[in-house]
Amino acid sequence: MTLPRAPLQQILTKYPPKESSLIMVLQDVQDAYRHLPLELLVEVAKALEVPKAKVIAVATFYKAFSLEPKGEVEIRVCRGTACHVRGGLLIMDEFKRLLGIEEGETTSDGKYTLEAVNCVGTCAMAPVVVVNDTYYGSMTVNKLNRILRATKSSKTADAAREETE
Ligand code: FES
Repeated sequence: MTLPRAPLQQILTKYPPKESSLIMVLQDVQDAYRHLPLELLVEVAKALEVPKAKVIAVATFYKAFSLEPKGEVEIRVCRGTACHVRGGLLIMDEFKRLLGIEEGETTSDGKYTLEAVNCVGTCAMAPVVVVNDTYYGSMTVNKLNRILRATKSSKTADAAREETE
């Protein structure tokens, strides 16, 4: 399957064609394509005049980047200490059970990706789950079920936020 090039072309016009733009370009490509496809990394290297090996090294170094496609809904369960002691593990286990996937995996329909992350900096709200860019604190199994129900038919986490508030 050939990927559409329009989003990439648009991203490349936003930044000066030089090495210092690399991280910003990769962030935008990740957002637009939900991962960093190898074929696009080659084009990024050419456009920014950066060696291909360097682009791939950066793309594989940062945890925020992924060479594999992510789900439409990215669920990040905090596994920092505060969240752990307040039931973060139970939340992770429930997501795994309901989605039928393990940490780091994406459902076969491409809808959900489940990840464990280090402290996301909102320990007072523990246990915390981040769904796309939306933070959910004091997570419970009930809340988790509502998030999954709301995101099933929605492409964004906004609907889930409205439903769980
Ligand atoms: S430990 Fe989860 S937000 Fe800090």
